[in-house]
Amino acid sequence: MKRIPLSHGAGQMPVLGFGTLIPDAAVTITATKGALEAGFRHFDCAERYLNELEVGKALQAGFADCGIVREDIFVTTKLWNTNHRPERVEPAFEASLVRLGLAYLDLYLIHTPFAFQPGDNQDPRDENGNVLYDRDVTLLDTWKAMESLVDHGKCRAVGLSDITLDGLKPIYEAARIKPAVVQVESHPYLPETELLEFCKEKAIVFLAFAPLGHGMKPGLLEDPVISGIATRVGKTPAQVLLAWAVQRGTAVLTTPKTAARARENFDISALPENAFDEINRIETRLRLNNVVTTGVPGFIPQSK
Ligand SMILES: NC(=O)c1ccc[n+]([C@@H]2O[C@H](COP(=O)([O-])OP(=O)(O)OC[C@H]3O[C@@H](n4cnc5c(N)ncnc54)[C@H](OP(=O)(O)O)[C@@H]3O)[C@@H](O)[C@H]2O)c1
Repeated sequence: MKRIPLSHGAGQMPVLGFGTLIPDAAVTITATKGALEAGFRHFDCAERYLNELEVGKALQAGFADCGIVREDIFVTTKLWNTNHRPERVEPAFEASLVRLGLAYLDLYLIHTPFAFQPGDNQDPRDENGNVLYDRDVTLLDTWKAMESLVDHGKCRAVGLSDITLDGLKPIYEAARIKPAVVQVESHPYLPETELLEFCKEKAIVFLAFAPLGHGMKPGLLEDPVISGIATRVGKTPAQVLLAWAVQRGTAVLTTPKTAARARENFDISALPENAFDEINRIETRLRLNNVVTTGVPGFIPQSK
């Protein structure tokens, strides 16, 4: 699988990554093992997914079963909104490392640019159900604490997630260690072209999530342009969507939950130029996850 170099010599990210946003603990383990066996070497995790322990177990088992070592895989996890205060960043990072059973991370992302009230409750709300934001910390304060993690050597690269271009620019300008990666929702209904161009210009890896439209139906997987191309090139709609993402110069995360789907999603190849252009001409525009405007994760069951 193709790899993209990260800025400042911080290693190389396999362009196709396995996302671990899986609410069920047992499914997290089987799906992560299935992904490793299928060939995935890039794993995207988060403190907020509440399953780093299970991902870690699956990775440890996979090292032996697949005959691989830690250096063969690229692992990301994310700092949750309730840990934005600088003094909370390193403890949150260390706790993730322990749960994952790893000695270092390839990439640590600020999960969203929204700081929530600090504490153990990941979803702090007032009596009316409104999110309690933390106004006493800026994103730049948090970013500086992220930079210190790189200085200390247990984290090879840092980046941002669920950020807009307007939010990214001031951090990019002020940063001592520039963001290596930006992770955002992106698919043919939300190409985020302006953000992608900025990232290319600044050598930031643009990492797309929900490339299959999060499997929502009806959705991208049923789009007539996508299914028409899939039939023409002898691939599945999921393979076409993932190939498109890679072909436009992004890295991409997908969450196949069975071993068969992991093999399917890993088996992608370049699209003919006319098929690539046809997807670029799709005019439907749709954002599926509003986390970018509130910091509240759109795809995570609120009860968990
Ligand atoms: N930073 C953020 O705020 C953020 C937000 C969302 C996601 N993410 C990350 O991005 C990752 C990927 O996002 P995503 O889960 O939305 O990705 P996705 O791959 O677009 O959507 C996953 C859904 O697609 C279905 N699917 C997977 N492979 C398929 C195939 N070959 N054919 C048909 N359906 C298929 C799955 O269905 P089944 O469940 O039936 O298998 C699942 O419901 C997440 O796991 C997470 O790591 C980050």
